[in-house]
This record gives sequence, structure tokens and C-alpha cells, in this order.
Amino acid sequence: MQWIFSPLNKSFDRLSFDCGKPKLNDYLKKYAWQNQQKRYSMTFVATVENSKEIAGYYCTSASNIEFTSIPDSLIKKLPKYPAPVMLIGQLAVDRKMQGKGLGKVLLMHALSRAVRISSEIGIFAVRVDAKDESARDFYQKYGFISLKDAESSLILPIKTIIASRKMNYP
Ligand SMILES: CC(C)(COP(=O)(O)OP(=O)(O)OC[C@H]1O[C@@H](n2cnc3c(N)ncnc32)[C@H](O)[C@@H]1OP(=O)(O)O)[C@@H](O)C(=O)NCCC(=O)NCCS
Repeated sequence: MQWIFSPLNKSFDRLSFDCGKPKLNDYLKKYAWQNQQKRYSMTFVATVENSKEIAGYYCTSASNIEFTSIPDSLIKKLPKYPAPVMLIGQLAVDRKMQGKGLGKVLLMHALSRAVRISSEIGIFAVRVDAKDESARDFYQKYGFISLKDAESSLILPIKTIIASRKMNYP
């Protein structure tokens, strides 16, 4: 299927979105637009052509992680202060569209955004906060590694993303 990605705006139908997780539905309905206007987080939605129905969405914001939380396998030669990260705060697919590859497309879209931004603002990794075990499994499938002190928070270094796409590391 051909997905169209757009920054959230009020013309999209936020009310009928249902990914099966009430917190993620509510976020889109009640908070995503407000937070975007304050630039606390940006929301990107996937739709099919000529539709305002949201098939999936993800949100991004700037964040950081304590040096002491970074997994041992990644700490070699890192500065010993908090590491800058891009947070994917929410990522969800409407129930009607689940299992058709959109979750992966949303994640890849967010990772590409992180790589792009990292050439202008330092970003060590992309961080996700998995809402449950199933979400954690989904992210682990793409190489995300749990933080030392919080199993449900996972990171994927920008360097790893770039290497996996055989891009040049700036
Ligand atoms: C988790 C979620 C985003 C996956 O989206 P999806 O569109 O159904 O997933 P896709 O069809 O793109 O699946 C891509 C791959 O991930 C796998 N996958 C999907 N959900 C998975 C899960 N929960 N655990 C492990 N693997 C999973 C699929 O089997 C597929 O693998 P394959 O490429 O080897 O066949 C979706 O089920 C969802 O929105 N769930 C509710 C909200 C949620 O839990 N969000 C998680 C972030 S907080």
C-alpha cells in the first residue's frame, strides 16, 4: 500500500482512530495537537491518498538518557554526561491496518527523520518507551536494546541505523 505521511493538522480525523490501546488513542485525540502547537512533540500521521482517516501515527521529541543508563555494550568512549536522543513517544497503527506492514513503515520513517536531524543537532540514539511487553518485542525485532535500569525503555544508536542502511556516517 502507498502511504502518505503528513505532520498532524486539524483536518485529520483523530476521533475514529483505534489501535486497541486506550492511552495511545487518547493521546492522539486529546493531546497530540496541543503538544504540537507548543512544540513539545511533533506528530506525523500516515494516510492513504485522498483520505483524512489516520491509519497510523508516531510522535517525536527531544530527550536525553543518563550515562549510567546506557547499556554496557554501547558505552565505550562515550562522554560521561547525559546523551542526547530523539524520543519516539508514541507509535501506533489502527486495528484495521495492523499486520500489513505499516508499523514497520512508521518506524523506518521515524528513524530516517532521526538520521536527518542528527546532522544538524547531536543525537546519539533513538529512544522508545514501550508501553507493554508486546511493544517491547516489536522494537527489539528492529535492534533496539533496553536501558540498564529500565527494561521498557530502549535505544537504537544513530550510528547503527546509518550502518544498517549503508549510509556514510557524517
Ligand atoms: C505494535 C504495532 C505498532 C505493530 O504494527 P503493525 O502494523 O501491526 O506491524 P507490522 O505489520 O508492520 O509488522 C512488522 C513486523 O513486526 C512484527 N510485529 C508486529 N507486532 C509485533 C509485536 N507486538 N511483537 C513482535 N513483533 C511484532 C510483525 O510480525 C512483522 O514481522 P515480519 O516483518 O518479520 O513479518 C501495532 O500492533 C500497534 O499499533 N499496536 C498497538 C499500539 C502499540 O502497542 N504501540 C507500540 C509502541 S508504544
